[in-house]
Amino acid sequence: MIFDPSSTVLITGANRGIGLEFVRQYAEIGCKIIACCRNSLSIDAVQALDVAVEIELLDVANSTSIESLGNRLSGRAIDLVINNAAVRGHIGGLADIDADDFLATMQVNVLSPLLLTRALLPALSYGRGRTVAMISSRAGSITEGHDDDGDYAYRCSKSALNMATAKLAYEFRTLTVISLHPGWVKTDMGGRDAEIPVSESVAGMRRVLSTLSPLASGAFLAHDGSTIAW
Ligand SMILES: NC(=O)c1ccc[n+]([C@@H]2O[C@H](COP(=O)([O-])OP(=O)(O)OC[C@H]3O[C@@H](n4cnc5c(N)ncnc54)[C@H](OP(=O)(O)O)[C@@H]3O)[C@@H](O)[C@H]2O)c1
Repeated sequence: MIFDPSSTVLITGANRGIGLEFVRQYAEIGCKIIACCRNSLSIDAVQALDVAVEIELLDVANSTSIESLGNRLSGRAIDLVINNAAVRGHIGGLADIDADDFLATMQVNVLSPLLLTRALLPALSYGRGRTVAMISSRAGSITEGHDDDGDYAYRCSKSALNMATAKLAYEFRTLTVISLHPGWVKTDMGGRDAEIPVSESVAGMRRVLSTLSPLASGAFLAHDGSTIAW
């Protein structure tokens, strides 16, 4: 699906990193943007882009906030939902697992994309694109995600998010739902040593999204279009 000035794109975690770059690039080609930011303190970066963007407050860790956004947007048409917001969780290995931190990571990284997708089903049904992108990670690949670190919460959350993608793709045949791996990207989360600039990652993911056929629903793809093993 080509996303163009007639398209509306909703992005979570829109105030920095990959989310903010999605806002910038889709706004640059004229798409209507609904940029979702956690609170009023985090909207400055989006406003500083100086492009026409609609900002919605959304704390994805709060199910009431998700429901209320769904209600506000229920009569609208949305073509593409990018479930981008995520947290890293504790990274100190098995000894460092803290139940509250682990569950908070699962809530933001897995449950919230599911709840938001559900809340936006009416708006997606009015759109032409009918696409949901889950920003996942190769870190959640059970086959490939075995780097030597202590990232239990994050990796488990992205594996579970991939199942959410597969399940939604199976249940909602009129939607195209995919998991995307952005690469290792220079953001607050990726760190300075990361391999690619955020502009390159997002340009790649946009390319993947623009060439997706509905038959690709349920896939796990990297920013360069390659398939990642589950
Ligand atoms: N960077 C990488 O190398 C890399 C690699 C693989 C996958 N990813 C994935 O790519 C996506 C974006 O990552 P990033 O590198 O851009 O991360 P980031 O720089 O840490 O930004 C995370 C974003 O998520 C938002 N967020 C977190 N909790 C939220 C909440 N409860 N409600 C609303 N927004 C919330 C943050 O908002 P606040 O500013 O308000 O905290 C921020 O906008 C994530 O899904 C991440 O897992 C990144």
